Amino acid sequence: MVAKPSDPPKSPLKPRSHSHHQTMSINLTTTQTVRELTRLERIGAHSHIRGLGLNDGLEARAGSQGMVGQEGARRAVGVVSRMIEEGKIGGRAILLAGKPGTGKTAIAMALSRQLGESTPFTSMSASEVFSLEMSKTEALTQALRKSIGIQILEETEVMEGEVVEVQIDTVAKKGGMEKTGRLTLCTTDMETVYDLGTKMIDMLSKEKITAGDVITIDKASGKITKLGRSFSRSRDYDAMGSTTRFVQCPEGELMKRKEVVHNVSLHEIDVINSRQQGFLALFAGDTGEIKSEIREQIDAKVVEWKEEGRAKIIPGVLFIDEVHMLDMECFSFLNRALESDMAPVLVIATNRGIAKIRGTEYKSPHGIPLDLLDRLMIISTEPYTHDEIRKILAVRCEEEDVEMADDALELLARIGMETSLRYAIHMIITSSLAAEKRKSSQVEIEDIKRVYKLFVDVKRSTQYLMEYNKEFMFNELDEEDDFGMVDTEKEGASPGKDEMETSP
Ligand SMILES: Nc1ncnc2c1ncn2[C@@H]1O[C@H](COP(=O)(O)OP(=O)(O)OP(=O)(O)O)[C@@H](O)[C@H]1O
Ligand SMILES: [Mg+2]
Repeated sequence: MVAKPSDPPKSPLKPRSHSHHQTMSINLTTTQTVRELTRLERIGAHSHIRGLGLNDGLEARAGSQGMVGQEGARRAVGVVSRMIEEGKIGGRAILLAGKPGTGKTAIAMALSRQLGESTPFTSMSASEVFSLEMSKTEALTQALRKSIGIQILEETEVMEGEVVEVQIDTVAKKGGMEKTGRLTLCTTDMETVYDLGTKMIDMLSKEKITAGDVITIDKASGKITKLGRSFSRSRDYDAMGSTTRFVQCPEGELMKRKEVVHNVSLHEIDVINSRQQGFLALFAGDTGEIKSEIREQIDAKVVEWKEEGRAKIIPGVLFIDEVHMLDMECFSFLNRALESDMAPVLVIATNRGIAKIRGTEYKSPHGIPLDLLDRLMIISTEPYTHDEIRKILAVRCEEEDVEMADDALELLARIGMETSLRYAIHMIITSSLAAEKRKSSQVEIEDIKRVYKLFVDVKRSTQYLMEYNKEFMFNELDEEDDFGMVDTEKEGASPGKDEMETSP
């Protein structure tokens, strides 16, 4: 990716020594990133969501940032997001409760986008706790600690300037040859010549520093970082790769004090400091269990840094989706964890009504034990109206780059009402393939009908099972089983149905 010359370097201490490695440099230093990368995101279930779509008064704007309807829940989550941003709450828990497909996961994703890069947001599904090679409580502890950010402030002195000249001489000395050198650096206001030791000479040649480069030298470590080529050299003849980055010649004093901010999570500090694992485990994700003594030491250290003003604690969010998959042990662990000083905000979601708590015979609302429920603020999501479904489908069409005729969209919205929002969403791309096959760039009613026949929704599939249950293996149909078929009976036939059957 070619950096635009107009981008000023925002964080000069970022390692960017080899221009062709730019995009790969691991950056613990700041949240500011100069690069703009082309969006390589795949289209996912929630990729159309860019935020909660609220105005300054936290009122839900109609169809904003990819969010449609669900005003109450969006507003409530907006209040939570503001409290998190102001650092007012930690250790609170919010439950998003509602029927399947009412946007609970979508709203959690919106919260994450809303909070932005600097607030840690960890998202997991409750069942992950059971599928890792570690105890459930360890998995939860790691997730909680991933959701707490620590901002470490560090002040360093650097020299920053444009290289005017590098002069290296080899002179004969007693006992062999020795290199001596001089480096001339300038800013727009001053110019200074420095004598170089052997170490610096090696460093300069390793980094291939030449006249016209803009560099920083860390005073304490002597580390040289190339920021780019000076604009004054942008017309030079020499063969510069397309990755060459142009920057302004720095202004003012050559010697500058820089404040560097390192953003890390508590979990990352844990891993780096647990000697068995080493930091490479961060890449493999294979961190194993971390000893509690290490965590205690780290917590104490972080508190100390905080008191000295060298670190800030940023409580983030841990989102656990499908939370009814947790068992008693996990729930009671969470109860306790929420009371710790460094707890993040916990957001959980479930579509369960009164259900058994996993691994027990006890029933409880949402499948969550009452003592945890008591600590939760509950936000409920409401089923969508026909209009809202239509709007969500329209947003998805745009996201998936599918053009759809108005009447086709209307039919799809009706199907969405009758079957499920997800089923309708899945029909978008499939019907666009059907349209493509007809060499049409727009999805018409006939494409929707075609796909409606090819892929059955849950209701039709269940109906089929009911009718032909004798021919399937291991069927266990009881008299009272209806699998949510009640709705259909109430309404008679599905409204899309007559249209469907007229299709060729
Ligand atoms: N208000 C909304 N605005 C825009 N898109 C939405 C909205 N609500 C839901 N969607 C989209 O509809 C689909 C289903 O919603 P989602 O997955 O959030 O449902 P859910 O409540 O989490 O359901 P479940 O209980 O089954 O997990 C997703 O693709 C989601 O992005
Ligand atoms: Mg969900």
